[in-house]
Amino acid sequence: MRTHEQTVQQQFDPRAEAYLTSAVHSAGPDLDCARELVEKTLGRGDAALDIGCGAGHLAFALAPLVGRMVALDPSPSMLATVSDSAAQRGLQQIEVRQGNAESLPHANESFALVGTRYSAHHWRRLESAVGEMRRVLVPGGHALIIDTVGAADPLTDTYLQSIELLRDVSHVRNRSRSDWHLLLRSAGLIELEYREWPTRLEFSSWVARMRTPADRVAVIRGLQEAAPREVREALGLEADGSFTLRTGLFWLRKVS
Ligand SMILES: C[S@@+](CC[C@H](N)C(=O)[O-])C[C@H]1O[C@@H](n2cnc3c(N)ncnc32)[C@H](O)[C@@H]1O
Repeated sequence: MRTHEQTVQQQFDPRAEAYLTSAVHSAGPDLDCARELVEKTLGRGDAALDIGCGAGHLAFALAPLVGRMVALDPSPSMLATVSDSAAQRGLQQIEVRQGNAESLPHANESFALVGTRYSAHHWRRLESAVGEMRRVLVPGGHALIIDTVGAADPLTDTYLQSIELLRDVSHVRNRSRSDWHLLLRSAGLIELEYREWPTRLEFSSWVARMRTPADRVAVIRGLQEAAPREVREALGLEADGSFTLRTGLFWLRKVS
């Protein structure tokens, strides 16, 4: 029987190329906002960490603004893709490191910035991971958390989490904005800014990226068809199964 960590590896390791070229991941207003925040806050000599770097899009966006960027992921093939692509882009600041958010392989107070994008909904022990983010930040350092957020309405949220898990068995939970807020505050990370954008997921490329088996795709479509009007409207459900989630960005500072 597999552990969750093994499931994550099994889901992501063969899919590095799909994430490198994914339109949802390679661009977005969240990346533009992240660049702006980092540019006005950090210095060119600062060290930064991208947790769950995947194919590296957050690391690529921020590396030119810092002195050192560590891209961390449990998947060796994601890390190999990041190394190759960073070399092609001339981003010598990027170094890769294998590891998990829940036990970061870094000393206390190593980074001025710790970021993560579209990864935290796979973390089984989110509280521990947020504690780790805080631990490796210097006093007064900044954290940047970007992820799809759960729906505030419980019925919509149940549909959303179910569809996500059917599509990708490494899905844990899209946390709501209020869940995040409580968790971050109790971890000693103070929210400086919160932004949110709609993110449309085109159905056929969304399931193709994860190679979701056909029988599970059929169950997702069945669930979508069974969804009541309130859920369809909240998720912006379209005839072909495409739908719209919210991407949230938290910009935070470590308080001592
Ligand atoms: C959707 S991809 C990341 C996308 C990428 N950050 C970007 O901006 O395009 C999710 C990544 O999270 C990684 N991941 C999953 N669980 C993790 C964990 N517990 N710790 C660190 N990374 C994790 C996966 O291996 C995968 O590469």
